[in-house]
Amino acid sequence: MQGVDDLAALHDEGLARAAALPCDELRRQYHPDLSPVGWHIGHCALTESYWLREIVLGDSPADESLQALYFPENSRKDRRATALPPRDELLAWADHTHRDNRALATELAERMPEHALLRDGYLLDFLAQHYAQHLETMAYVLAQRALNAPEPEARVGEPAPRSPAPEGVALAGGRFLLGSNALAAYDNEQPSHEVTLASATLARDPVGNAEFLAFIEDGGYRRPELWTTAGWHWRETAGIEQPVFWRGASGQRVEVTPDGPRALSPDAPVAGLGYWEADAFARWAGARLPHEHEWEALATDGALRGVGQAWEWCGNALFPYPGFRAFPYEGYSMPWFDGNHYVLRGGSEHTRDAVRRVSFRNFYEPDKRHLFAGLRLAW
Ligand code: AVJ
Ligand code: FE
Repeated sequence: MQGVDDLAALHDEGLARAAALPCDELRRQYHPDLSPVGWHIGHCALTESYWLREIVLGDSPADESLQALYFPENSRKDRRATALPPRDELLAWADHTHRDNRALATELAERMPEHALLRDGYLLDFLAQHYAQHLETMAYVLAQRALNAPEPEARVGEPAPRSPAPEGVALAGGRFLLGSNALAAYDNEQPSHEVTLASATLARDPVGNAEFLAFIEDGGYRRPELWTTAGWHWRETAGIEQPVFWRGASGQRVEVTPDGPRALSPDAPVAGLGYWEADAFARWAGARLPHEHEWEALATDGALRGVGQAWEWCGNALFPYPGFRAFPYEGYSMPWFDGNHYVLRGGSEHTRDAVRRVSFRNFYEPDKRHLFAGLRLAW
C-alpha cells in the first residue's frame, strides 16, 4: 500500500538517524528551542498511536508516562532530555511502535475505508507529513550538534562580497487563486480562494551568501537604522553578528551543516537568519520582504528560481484564510495565529517531498534562527 510504504521509508530514515548517535547525543538538548533527536522519534511514534488507536479505534489513552513525555503540551522542553529512556530501550520501543502502527493502519484502511479520517488515505498521509516535518527538525538538531563540535581546522577562503542587484520578476496586479483544497493540504492552506494583489516585483533568486557578506561588510549588524526597534533590541541582547550557521573570522567564514562545515558558496541562498535579520537585510538593500501571497502567485507560475534550498521569510504573520476550519485538530494552526509567527515559504535542502508544495505555509517566531531560512527580496 503506497501510503504505508511512504511512512515506512520515513520511519526507517528517522530510526537510522537516531541509531547513528551514541546514547548521550541521542538524548542531548543542543539548543533551548530544540528537543533531543530521541524525543522527536518518540513523539512521532506516540502521535501515530494516538491517531490510530485512541481517535480512530476509540482505545484507551496511552500510558500516562508516555503522554507526559511525548505530548508537547504536557512536557516542558527543558525536561525532555532527562526524562527520555536509555538509548536501546527508546529505539526498541520506537521501532516496535512504528511497525505496529503501520500494520494497524493497513488493517484499518481495509476494515473502515469510509471512516472520516481514513477516506482516500487521509490519515496515513497526515502522519507521513508529520514525520517528514519532524525529520527536518531533527536536521536542525544535528546542525546545532555540528556547531558544538570543535572548530574545523582546514580553512577555505570565503567568497568576495557582492552588492545585491537582483533580476526582478514582475507580478502584474490583479486577482489570483491561492491556497489549496487538496485532501493532503493542511488546514491553514485551505480553502483555496481569490486574493487581489497590487503589482510588485520579486527577485528571481533568493539572497545569496555573497550578498549577505556585503551586508555584513557594510556594517549591517552595527546600524540600528536598518532594524526595527524590536529587531535591534533582539540583535543587541543576543549579540547577533552573522548567520547562526556561519563560523570563523572575517575572510575565513564557513557554513556548518548537519554533516559538518562546508565552504560558503557565493550564489547559494543564505541560511541561518531570523526574521529580524532578514527584514534588516531587505531594508539595507532598499527592498522589503515579500508577502506570502506575492510569493505564492509567482511560485505557482514557476517564475521563481532557487525555491526549496532555504526557507524564505515572508513579511507577514500567519493568519487564517477566509473560511478557515481547524482540522484535524485545533493545535496544528490555531495557536499560531497570534501575530507573532511569521510565514516562511518554499523549503530547505532538508525538506521532504511530503511537504514540498507551493501552498505549504511554515511559521516561526521572529527570533528563531535554528531553521534553514533566508530570504528573497521584493520591492
Ligand atoms: C509547522 C514546522 C512549525 O514542527 O512545530 C509538527 C509542525 N506540528 N508537529 C513544528 C508540527 C506538530 C510545526 N511547524
Ligand atoms: Fe509533532
